Amino acid sequence: MPHTPARHAIRGSYVTFRADPFAAPAADALVLEEDGLIIMEHGRITHCGPYALVRAHLGENTPLTHYPDCLISAGFIDAHVHYPQISAIASWGEQLLPWLEQYIFPTEAQFASMDVARQTARLFLSELLRNGTTTAAVYCTVHPQSVDAFFEESARLGTRMIAGKVLMDRNCPPNLQDTAQSGYDQSAALIARWHGTGRQLYAVTPRFAITSTPEQLELAGDLLRRTPGLYMQTHLAENLDEIAAVRSLFPHHSSYLDVYAKAGLDGPRAIFGHAIHMSEHDFAHCHHSGCTLVHCPTSNLFLGSGAFRLFDALRPDRPVHVALGTDIGAGTSLSLLATMGEAYKVSLMAGDTRLSAAQALWLATAGAAHALHLHDRIGHIAPGMEADLCVMDPQATPLMAQRSARATTLAERLFTLMVLGDDRAIRATWVNGKVVHTRAEAA
Ligand code: GUN
Ligand code: ZN
Repeated sequence: MPHTPARHAIRGSYVTFRADPFAAPAADALVLEEDGLIIMEHGRITHCGPYALVRAHLGENTPLTHYPDCLISAGFIDAHVHYPQISAIASWGEQLLPWLEQYIFPTEAQFASMDVARQTARLFLSELLRNGTTTAAVYCTVHPQSVDAFFEESARLGTRMIAGKVLMDRNCPPNLQDTAQSGYDQSAALIARWHGTGRQLYAVTPRFAITSTPEQLELAGDLLRRTPGLYMQTHLAENLDEIAAVRSLFPHHSSYLDVYAKAGLDGPRAIFGHAIHMSEHDFAHCHHSGCTLVHCPTSNLFLGSGAFRLFDALRPDRPVHVALGTDIGAGTSLSLLATMGEAYKVSLMAGDTRLSAAQALWLATAGAAHALHLHDRIGHIAPGMEADLCVMDPQATPLMAQRSARATTLAERLFTLMVLGDDRAIRATWVNGKVVHTRAEAA
């Protein structure tokens, strides 16, 4: 990795938020600094604003990187993704439950090997950075060493990551099963080792209600009560066959969400992937408990799971926190730009309200940071924030250059990026005040 001094500055157009674009008009919510300067020191933004004003704070020898014709944003946040599944992306032909059996469980079984875990964690995190993603909520496998491999690599890169060991004590192959007690003990040891170590944060991770006994879910709730600030991540109401199986395994619960709620897994740091097939009662419960739903459009399309009702989840009288997820390996792209583009299409399928470019960018940055209670650290470009940035190139391909040349507004520039962009549109990624990815340029 290139050596970068403790203090650095970047110059270019940048966008950030001063309000939620689901609550305020885009013009009031988005801030665009056409010729901006961002000064970073020891991993944090110290100054930012118009170049003409902020240059006074540059100091004599601060290295300055200029990104003309680019658009800089806070780094993207992927709120639901499985790092071990990166090798099983693009597996053909099945919906959720047979897809898990046929492709995912055999892939995850390979993570008994620390070598596999290390090599995959390295590839996965470098792919995240190539896509401008600087924070993610990540499922490892049932093997505790898969979590160590992941956090070791994240700590080396300096990324802020949320991750956890998958808990699974039934309805999966024997070589992937823990027990309620071993899952608890292994999670407790990983929490002690990693939660709050540098930028790493731990999520208690029961895979979903089908693969955990009631005892395991209860003990997951105990873990959460024991250590403040922990996250909880799991899957919720993704697929109709899955929901039917949960109903037969938990016949005395009023809904799928109720299974988690009764075990104490529904608090403000609960992150539920998918949440496609939700009742009004479920949404209201999520609003009151403060949990987060993660919209994973490429995954939901790929597995034929359904269309997330984004604007229903966000209904102003009982808004639920929503973030975006790629859900690799069911998702088909690690790019949050591509995910924003698919979320736009799904918003048209699910109702008659259209996702704006500003709203999509909010879900991938500041909105996700709020949902994850990290908005005082990431998701915005402002003094005091951790310096995680992605530099987008609206001219990344000949087609994008052609379309971007006709874009007259910021909304149009952003929309072009999210409909046509992917990793090619990420010119550079900065983490903790250091450049960690620079796109290779054609010779
Ligand atoms: N439900 C339980 N496990 C998984 C998983 O690995 N991926 C998806 N998309 N849904 C799940
Ligand atoms: Zn998932």
